[in-house]
Amino acid sequence: MTKVVLIYGTGSGNTERVAIGIIEGIEAAGAEAILKKYDGEFVDLSDADAVLVGSPTYNTKPMPFINHIFDGKQGDQFDGKVGAAFGSFGRDGKAVQIITEKMKEHSMDVIDPGMAVFTRPNGEKLEMCRKFGESIVGKIKGL
Ligand SMILES: Cc1cc2nc3c(=O)[nH]c(=O)nc-3n(C[C@H](O)[C@H](O)[C@H](O)COP(=O)(O)O)c2cc1C
Repeated sequence: MTKVVLIYGTGSGNTERVAIGIIEGIEAAGAEAILKKYDGEFVDLSDADAVLVGSPTYNTKPMPFINHIFDGKQGDQFDGKVGAAFGSFGRDGKAVQIITEKMKEHSMDVIDPGMAVFTRPNGEKLEMCRKFGESIVGKIKGL
């Protein structure tokens, strides 16, 4: 089964809500989604078809764990996979762009732009997250 792993961080839960919307889309498209709030432990991505990385923007940057996962041993696991960034923001929303660039540095097949959502997604914004999840599965399957 097609498998998508989502690794994320959040301060107040909004980015988690973005992740949940994306997962609903992934599952609706018939793929498996694994949600992993990053806790510093190594995440095995060897059997993942795509990896999504999410962070809110704080002070024009993603959360510090982003540097940790891309620059360390974890970073080698991203190479060559389908990838996309997501996150919630309140002003400029730079985190999603920064994560997208890091994914390109790791030769990922990146969906650009990623899914940046103003504050907490619901209604129409949540539906956009679902569609984004579906589009990821479409990309993996070459649709
Ligand atoms: C201290 C602080 C700094 C922030 N800095 C930014 C920023 O530079 N750019 C931005 O777009 N949003 C900024 N925000 C807004 C957050 O990105 C926004 O509240 C987001 O929904 C938080 O997502 P989370 O619930 O996943 O942590 C800031 C919020 C706080 C509390």
